[in-house]
Amino acid sequence: MKNKESEPQIETFTAVKWNAGVLKLLDQRKLPNEVVYLDYSSALDVANAIKEMVVRGAPAIGITAAYAVVLAANSAYQNSPDNWREDIEEILRVLVAARPTAINLKWAISKMRKQFNMIDGDPETQLLDLAIKIHNDDIAANHEMGRLGAELIDPDSEVITHCNAGALATGGYGTALGVIRTAYQKGLLKKVYASETRPWLQGARLTSWELKQDNIPVSLLIDSAVSNLMQTKKISWLIVGSDRITANGDIANKIGTYSHVVSAKYHNVKVMVVAPSSTIDMKINSGKKIPIENRPAEEVMYFQETQSSLNQTEILNPAFDITPASLIDYIVTEKGIIHEPNAKKMHAIFG
Ligand code: MRU
Repeated sequence: MKNKESEPQIETFTAVKWNAGVLKLLDQRKLPNEVVYLDYSSALDVANAIKEMVVRGAPAIGITAAYAVVLAANSAYQNSPDNWREDIEEILRVLVAARPTAINLKWAISKMRKQFNMIDGDPETQLLDLAIKIHNDDIAANHEMGRLGAELIDPDSEVITHCNAGALATGGYGTALGVIRTAYQKGLLKKVYASETRPWLQGARLTSWELKQDNIPVSLLIDSAVSNLMQTKKISWLIVGSDRITANGDIANKIGTYSHVVSAKYHNVKVMVVAPSSTIDMKINSGKKIPIENRPAEEVMYFQETQSSLNQTEILNPAFDITPASLIDYIVTEKGIIHEPNAKKMHAIFG
């Protein structure tokens, strides 16, 4: 396979890299203690890596899936140059199912499928070019959303973010953290609060780590301390990413987003959702129709490396929740900002 190591242009660190026919994923389960990249040359192993949270964050898993299609197509073409398209369909199904809530996975695979249906002969170059384009377009979208979102923020603001919607969750730079990065560079932000995000601790392990690397002042707090923070401090914004935005402006994001938003409304904290157009699902007209991923009970049964004695207790572990459009002040995408989102405004940009 070709080495396109020089592309795409990336930030100081990246969750997803392509190097000489090998997909490299930063193992986010190990952060911030270890920075380790794992090598993948099989698309089925990549699907497993997505399921097991080696890579996570809606845009990052979409980009990863695009590179996985290159791996799948290349190996199928070597084995069977006439039937490789049919041979990879089962693998694509497994990839799409790896995480059901984030639409970016399906979006990226559909784009790759459209491309490979038009290819004659060896698919490698054209598919790799498209995967790199998907990756680079995401980075560019993040910078544009950073610029647009920062324009909404007043000087001396303190903001809260939940989960990780940063460079680690995207092609680079970040969605919610892209806005935060740009606003900080413009001297508008005094402080960021990151909620820890049980049970995978994306806020504690990933967001705090990213922001510290950029010397952006960040304080970490447990999820249930967010309402108290809003009650006792002057917080201007809650800024979050999204895994899927439906045609009426409802959004799915990491579990706990909805309760943060409800608290924000009560305390007059404005709510900004930042997501690229690859996260928009105009085929669904309500957040109620978004499939919510339920993750294994074991993820909430452990405390400080020890399994608790909860074996007999029913455990609920939904990974995402839905926030209705009516509670959102702004949706920021690279195609523009939607104030007080609703179906008509969504249709005007994405229809
Ligand atoms: O379970 P995760 O870590 O994949 O959840 C990630 C989130 O909820 C992010 O906020 C979302 O994917 C947007 S990332 C730019």
